Amino acid sequence: MTSSNPGREAWFEGGDAHCENPPRALEHPWRLVLLGPPGAGKGTQAERISKKLGACHLSTGDLMRACAAKSKDGCVPLSGAMQEAVAAMRRGELVSDETMCRLVAERSRCLACSRGYLFDGFPRTYAQALILDEWLTRMGLQLDAAVNLEIDQRLLIDRLGGRRVCPKCKATYHVTGNPPKVEGICDHDGEALIQRPDDRPEAVKTRLEEYDRSCEPLLRHYEETGRLLRVDADGTPEEVLLRVVDALQQRAPQVV
Ligand code: AP5
Repeated sequence: MTSSNPGREAWFEGGDAHCENPPRALEHPWRLVLLGPPGAGKGTQAERISKKLGACHLSTGDLMRACAAKSKDGCVPLSGAMQEAVAAMRRGELVSDETMCRLVAERSRCLACSRGYLFDGFPRTYAQALILDEWLTRMGLQLDAAVNLEIDQRLLIDRLGGRRVCPKCKATYHVTGNPPKVEGICDHDGEALIQRPDDRPEAVKTRLEEYDRSCEPLLRHYEETGRLLRVDADGTPEEVLLRVVDALQQRAPQVV
């Protein structure tokens, strides 16, 4: 077990921003992508996998929600690209590939991080996966694996409806499946938990349809390039984590 998630300022602020606690270089910095439908548990697992591997959790959803919250507080105005992205997210639609790639490109410093990372929410389409491969190849780096969390669609509606998140540290809970120690309060920082606007039933329906439309070519790409790891995501968060670690261990037994 390695130390927990670093500050992620470079991811949340973009451009020339540095993380406040510079990451410690790891012998094997894992570069991973986490895939799966909305509600499969990507955020839940990303938090746990990042702690386990010492890699940084880079979530495109968290990034857009953090920027939207800052602009609502009147702290930082949203850029044109971010406005477009946040509006699509609220409707449950995918952000366009061009806009999403622009947002990630503004954070390209993170791609070279010597601590490694776990992408959660990017790439979400085949076009985005090709661009990520191209960026990494140019940097002389490669993705270790794309971990796909597989789960029956019927479980997703319940998971999304019962989800509560911490607006400060982004930790994810479920009112019955993964509750905080004190109801409605984040275990990590005592903030009041909230429900995401895109967990409304009509947005959930759109998100699941969007996922179905975009996932096939993406999964095929990682399968054909020998990087896809399929993991059954039905079980407790701890059980699913063990399956992910097991799958990674089979890939690189000496480093997990
Ligand atoms: P994003 O924030 O990435 O949302 P998502 O992919 O829809 O996934 P979710 O965050 O809803 O689910 P999750 O798999 O992380 O599940 P969680 O761990 O929370 O993106 C939001 C939106 O932004 C997208 O819809 C899109 O519009 C846009 N976007 C983002 N990236 C984009 C891109 N690259 N291109 C285009 N558009 C993009 O778990 C769900 C619930 O289940 C929680 O309550 C949790 O506690 C519970 N739970 C989890 N695991 C378990 C378990 N094992 N047992 C019981 N309960 C569990």
